[in-house]
Amino acid sequence: MVSRVIPVDKFDLVIFGGTGDLARRKILPGLHRRYLAGQMPEGAQIVGAARAVLDDQGYRDMVREAITEFGDAEDQDEAKLAAFLEHVQYLPIDAMGEKGWEKLAKMIRPGMIHAYYFSVGPSLFGELAERLQLYGMADENCRIVVEKPFGRDLESARELNKVLAAHFDESQIYRIDHYLGKETVQNLMAVRFANILFEPLWNAQYVDHIQITVAETVGVGGRGAYYDKSGAMRDMVQNHLMQLLCLIAMEPPSRFGPDEVRDEKLKVIRALEPVDPHHIVRGQYNADGKEQSYRDDAGDPKSLTESFIALKCHISNWRWSGTPFYIRTGKKLKARESEIVVVFKDAPHLIFGQSSGQHCNTLTIRLQPNEGMTLGVTIKDPGPGGMRLIDVPLDMTFAEALGEEGSDGPDAYERLIMDVMRGNQTLFMRGDEVEAAWGWTDPIIAGWEERGEVPKPYEVGSSGPEDAMMLMHRDGRRWREIKE
Ligand SMILES: NC(=O)c1ccc[n+]([C@@H]2O[C@H](COP(=O)([O-])OP(=O)(O)OC[C@H]3O[C@@H](n4cnc5c(N)ncnc54)[C@H](OP(=O)(O)O)[C@@H]3O)[C@@H](O)[C@H]2O)c1
Repeated sequence: MVSRVIPVDKFDLVIFGGTGDLARRKILPGLHRRYLAGQMPEGAQIVGAARAVLDDQGYRDMVREAITEFGDAEDQDEAKLAAFLEHVQYLPIDAMGEKGWEKLAKMIRPGMIHAYYFSVGPSLFGELAERLQLYGMADENCRIVVEKPFGRDLESARELNKVLAAHFDESQIYRIDHYLGKETVQNLMAVRFANILFEPLWNAQYVDHIQITVAETVGVGGRGAYYDKSGAMRDMVQNHLMQLLCLIAMEPPSRFGPDEVRDEKLKVIRALEPVDPHHIVRGQYNADGKEQSYRDDAGDPKSLTESFIALKCHISNWRWSGTPFYIRTGKKLKARESEIVVVFKDAPHLIFGQSSGQHCNTLTIRLQPNEGMTLGVTIKDPGPGGMRLIDVPLDMTFAEALGEEGSDGPDAYERLIMDVMRGNQTLFMRGDEVEAAWGWTDPIIAGWEERGEVPKPYEVGSSGPEDAMMLMHRDGRRWREIKE
């Protein structure tokens, strides 16, 4: 268990949607782990709230089950679990009606931090915000946490921002993109801005291109009908991949503060050029005898929604002009893997002659699995027979380099929930950032819809459609292999 914890002050946390999938899978097991780590203070109160009629004991039984199912095996100490559950209560409440609200208002303790986690569909955000205000719970000590998807286009995102802004100040709104809570994602900033080594090379003069891959092995499974209204662009690129792109491309902020960091990310999004339709490849996975096709999973034999997307984009500013960023994400691919590869340009002059071959340095940042970084360097191939060169990895897997502390930090949700309690918005998306991201994605989506483009089929367990490979090959480049 983590040894260096920064304790948070006592808090009241209300989880609207406390019986839902996200609460059971992530939020509650995460809070339990923070409790075990000593970060959740005695006196903290967690209130699950949903329409289901349950009493405290019934809810605690549900939370216990969720922690047993989704928590870590080594965290299942019965006495500690029972002590954690003492902090948990339940209140039947209807976001759309008046049931439960007066009672909730009485449970909120004055003078203490209170956070309201909107773990419900976005159509309920306005109802919740309004009632929190109406029942006197939206004071200056409160924070609200909202989940993705934050809208499905610029217009709906603006509408959601407007609804929330009517009741809360931007400093009280925490829009979660759980990718930002990942240890390695934050490490991106540490690597870039705490080392002198990389910054001089971190620009179009020395970087040939950057690849960002988020590959999943799962399909859309039981949530096919929901996913079919969204697709990989809305579900993954507009949020997670764009956040990664921002962190890799942004200018150094003047300090590691919420607005300083988010201002710089926003500048990257605003500098993104529109994408040439020829630089976009969309795909759908095929049936493979054992597993259904995307269209079967989506329940629509004519679906045009993509379960895979690869695209090439450019950032028009001094640092990156001319350096392409290739990003791809998809479902039912060869392996579960998220990584960023910075591919540096070749050395300007080869003193070892043509026979030594072409070599370039790469910096690979692995977000999952095996979080860590690898610097690809060129060395002499050992042995006699002249100056042959080979590329070798300088490998740093965090779990190996840092021992127990490197492998046992808080997961993304745990970290982000504790940041909410601490009032630190650095790893949350600001309203203007989300709108800018939709502002870039909307015309891309509108373009392929207008053209009636049909996604290319790809095999389950592959690296995506052949055309995605061609996107790189045409430029004389290659994707890094998605490794099983
Ligand atoms: N699941 C994930 O892994 C995940 C990941 C990222 C984002 N999200 C987002 O997180 C949110 C929650 O997702 P989920 O998967 O947990 O959904 P879910 O399993 O459908 O749960 C929805 C929750 O909302 C409650 N609810 C529904 N209508 C309500 C009402 N009128 N008043 C009060 N409570 C109400 C439900 O309980 P009752 O029916 O008993 O009221 C349930 O607890 C969604 O916006 C989703 O897009 C989920």
